[in-house]
Formats: sequence, structure tokens, C-alpha cells
Amino acid sequence: MSAHIQIEPVLRPMCPEDVPRVMAIEREIYPYPWTEGIFLDCLRVGYGCWILEHHAQLAGYGVVSLAAGEAHLLNLSIASDHQGRGLGRILLRHLVDFIRRLGGEVVFLEVRPSNRAAVHLYESEGFARIGTRHRYYPADRGREDAWVFSIATVG
Ligand SMILES: CC(C)(COP(=O)(O)OP(=O)(O)OC[C@H]1O[C@@H](n2cnc3c(N)ncnc32)[C@H](O)[C@@H]1OP(=O)(O)O)[C@@H](O)C(=O)NCCC(=O)NCCS
Repeated sequence: MSAHIQIEPVLRPMCPEDVPRVMAIEREIYPYPWTEGIFLDCLRVGYGCWILEHHAQLAGYGVVSLAAGEAHLLNLSIASDHQGRGLGRILLRHLVDFIRRLGGEVVFLEVRPSNRAAVHLYESEGFARIGTRHRYYPADRGREDAWVFSIATVG
């Protein structure tokens, strides 16, 4: 189990002013980060963009799209110095609840098979692996597959 956190994190919608700090984390934790323009586009089109603050610091963020009852978890990120304390699980549960409240019935996501922390997190939250997208991600040598996971939010 992850170590228990002492102070409850705060979850709030992302705003454009957050994007520079989001980008600092994004560049730190991903070899192939999203760009600032992608985050601004997600905000502009009304995707669910959330910030997780812990000890008054921007510790994580997530982005979901939702249409016709089908949601896609596009980004789930915790800053490296906040990882391993249960915050990723809290953020993931918040995003799934958010999707459910908006009428989303199923959530899909892609993850690198090599990302053991994320794969463990999704499986332990009840996501099921439903397929593979071959050569989906850029990688140091060529391309890496994506595992596709999904979960039903109702029933
Ligand atoms: C994946 C990520 C969101 C998880 O957030 P986190 O706050 O570090 O995770 P948590 O502390 O909530 O732990 C979640 C579970 O993963 C496990 N875990 C953490 N690191 C792990 C690792 N390297 N290998 C296996 N399991 C790991 C934890 O033990 C915990 O399981 P448990 O409660 O059964 O012990 C975070 O590590 C991250 O942002 N990584 C970089 C970006 C990324 O990969 N995002 C996901 C893209 S699909």
C-alpha cells in the first residue's frame, strides 16, 4: 500500500494560468511531453481539466474528454516529488467520479506496458485490459505498443 497522506489534497478545475506550472511537471515526468498548446486546446474545447494541489503546491493534473457517454482519460500526472503517496489514485478516482456525474458510462485509456506504476494503478482500480494498439507511442528505439484499458462507471 502507498503511504497515507496527512493532509487532504484539493481538487479544482484547471485554468489557463496553471498551464506554465503544468508544463514544468509535464516536461519533468514524460520523455515525450504534451505541449502548452495541447493543454490550452483542451481547456478551450471544454475537456475536463483538473488540478490536484497538495500542501499548497500544484502536485498533479488530469484531462478527460467525454462525448456520447464515452470518456477518454487523456492525461493523468503526478509530479515526481509527490509520487508514491496515493495522490495518483485520488486523482484517478476523482476523474472517474467526475465522468460518472456527467453521465459518462465507460472510460477508456491508453498506457505504455512498461509503465508499471500506471498499469498497477489502473488494474487495482478495476480497469480491464481490452486490447493493444501496436506501435502507438514514440520510444527511444522505434515505437512502443499501448495497452488499452476500460472501466464501466455504471451497473
Ligand atoms: C502513474 C502515476 C499517475 C501514479 O501516481 P502516484 O501518485 O505515484 O501513485 P499512487 O501513490 O497513487 O500509487 C498507486 C499504486 O501504484 C503503485 N506503484 C507506484 N509506483 C510503482 C511502480 N514503480 N511499480 C509498480 N507499482 C507502483 C503504488 O504502490 C500504488 O499501489 P498500492 O496502493 O497497491 O501500493 C504517477 O506515477 C505519474 O504521474 N507517473 C508519470 C506519468 C504517467 O506515467 N502517467 C500515466 C500515463 S498513462
